[in-house]
Amino acid sequence: MRVFATSDLHVDYDANAKWIDSLSAADYQEDVLILAGDVTHARRLLEWCLTTLAKRFRKLLFVPGNHDLWVTREVGENSLQKFQRVCGMATDCGASMGVFQERGLSIVPLLSWYDYSFGEPSEELRSIWMDYRACRWPNWFTEQDITAYFAGLNQEGLASPAGKVITYSHFLPRLDLVPTFIPKARRVLIPVLGSTVLERQLRSFRPSIHVYGHSHINRCVKLDGIAYVNNAFGYPSENLITAKNLVCIHQT
Ligand SMILES: [Fe+2]
Repeated sequence: MRVFATSDLHVDYDANAKWIDSLSAADYQEDVLILAGDVTHARRLLEWCLTTLAKRFRKLLFVPGNHDLWVTREVGENSLQKFQRVCGMATDCGASMGVFQERGLSIVPLLSWYDYSFGEPSEELRSIWMDYRACRWPNWFTEQDITAYFAGLNQEGLASPAGKVITYSHFLPRLDLVPTFIPKARRVLIPVLGSTVLERQLRSFRPSIHVYGHSHINRCVKLDGIAYVNNAFGYPSENLITAKNLVCIHQT
């Protein structure tokens, strides 16, 4: 059994959808795929992508990203309601959002949002970041409540931890995962990249690997004993920072 990781498939782009369609129907039947969010905000495309990948792999493990909770097309539905609908849809399509445990391996999903623990958003960020317009939250939600809501859905620690643990999230758990080569103009996005709550939660599982997405910058870096892996597929134009291929992160 191999464990592969990807994220940010953004199947609204035809080239990305074609890549998924081109994946072998036979080669991964014994394998697990971690899909760390940002498939699409479009319901039918999300259903298609999850259903297709669930058939190609023995097990598809999924957490939604911010794009998956956009409600630009959903009349009368907020992003919290969409999250709950996406969870049901994922299960119906054959994906799992629960803990996977088999043969001494545990793979743990961690839901999350950004909470400005990486920095306060500037006026420029508030004007350009699409989530501020494409996500709608219940009136009683403050911005901090969004992260607290998702963090509250996560387990902390496993009752009976198996040998090897892999955790995964859409958002970044620590600011130093942002490479130093990122230019100043792009650093305006830092406040909406992740949350330090995630780092505290993932450490409770003592993982050897944490998979994350969202930043669209492929990398594997070991920090304080954990290998942090980003293998975002990304937008078609992002050829220099994404590999556009599956990466195997574990084999038994
Ligand atoms: Fe994202």
